[in-house]
Amino acid sequence: MQYNFDIQIDRNHTNTIKYNFRKKLFGNEKVIPLWVADMDLPVCNEITIALKKRIEHPLFGYTLQSDNFYNSFIKWMNIRHNIHIKEEWLCFSPAVVPSLSMLISIFATKFNKVAINTPVYHPFYQIIKDNGCAIVESPLIIDSNGNYQIDFKNLEDCFKQGIDIFLLCNPHNPVGKIFSNEDLDKILHLAETHNVLVISDEIHCDIILDNSKKHVSLMQKNNFKNIISCFSPGKTFNLAGMAASVVSIPDIKFRSKFKRELERLHLFSGNLLGYTAFEAAYESGMEWHQQSLQYLKGNRDFAIDYLTQYTPKIKPNKPDSTFLLWLDCTDMPFENENQLKHFFYQKAEVGLSHGKIFGKNYGMFMRLNFATQRSLLVKALEQIRQSYIEL
Ligand SMILES: Cc1ncc(COP(=O)(O)O)c(C=O)c1O
Repeated sequence: MQYNFDIQIDRNHTNTIKYNFRKKLFGNEKVIPLWVADMDLPVCNEITIALKKRIEHPLFGYTLQSDNFYNSFIKWMNIRHNIHIKEEWLCFSPAVVPSLSMLISIFATKFNKVAINTPVYHPFYQIIKDNGCAIVESPLIIDSNGNYQIDFKNLEDCFKQGIDIFLLCNPHNPVGKIFSNEDLDKILHLAETHNVLVISDEIHCDIILDNSKKHVSLMQKNNFKNIISCFSPGKTFNLAGMAASVVSIPDIKFRSKFKRELERLHLFSGNLLGYTAFEAAYESGMEWHQQSLQYLKGNRDFAIDYLTQYTPKIKPNKPDSTFLLWLDCTDMPFENENQLKHFFYQKAEVGLSHGKIFGKNYGMFMRLNFATQRSLLVKALEQIRQSYIEL
């Protein structure tokens, strides 16, 4: 079936944080919210049908995952990416961030240090700190073509100083980079040499905006022992509120430690509607997924062309993956980040994520979520352009 993603759906009064937090975050509840990473696109019909069918049955007691739960994900990864994941590697977890936090608490016990590439998805900072660990930052660098890259010399120095975990975000939020096969090989060789566990957050792995690009999963590198990947249908199928994800751990010792932690916290069982949505998405969501990717790619290209043409001092980084546009605003005529925030939040009335939450050096950056109706994106960009003209 053909989906029409242009239809605007009112999300007010649905307790969505994207809308309800506007006043709190931006001091202005009129901003067009293009911040938190969920989409304004309605989910695929198969998910809605499966959920409706399930709620027709009036009992919602303790519920197991179906026999097909993991298999639906395994099949998806195989068909979508030609990646082969074994069922025995998989553990259920409500969501990716809690999984990462649990993994840090279990495995960052020798040096109490976790390395990350910065800028990076902001909860990474929080969960490392909350688990009593030190953050070791390995900043991404920009190469001569303007592309973000891992600084391998710096990463090696970080590994050498003694760290327990390297927490990789692949594809990368906020810069939208897909790390290459060579990148992963280099990381894993360093990790093997320095006895570091590599944990890969692959939540954005399906949102690949150009056909020429390919996601490479850590799970394809299972000749290495010290690898763990986290996946979820949350981004791909817009199911962030459904709380159902998986953690893939090929090594049996690591896996049993994680399972024990799930048991200790009594988190091994999830929400039955989450299970239902997860399975329906991976089982039947391919057509919707392909159409949503086309729509997102159109939005990305439109936003980049628009900003480049009309607001050249706001410089977007073209993401290969994710529905997030990382905006370099360092050339804008502002003396400090408060002026930048004022420009977007009070003048243009567009609610973007402030760059500083992703890294201390990024106060003059913003992140724009373009997974919305094209008309709303156009409106937001026009508001930015109008305020830019008035500067
Ligand atoms: C890289 C990354 N990891 C994890 C999450 C959140 O995952 P979950 O909702 O499953 O905790 C997000 C959401 O934006 C994300 O961008």
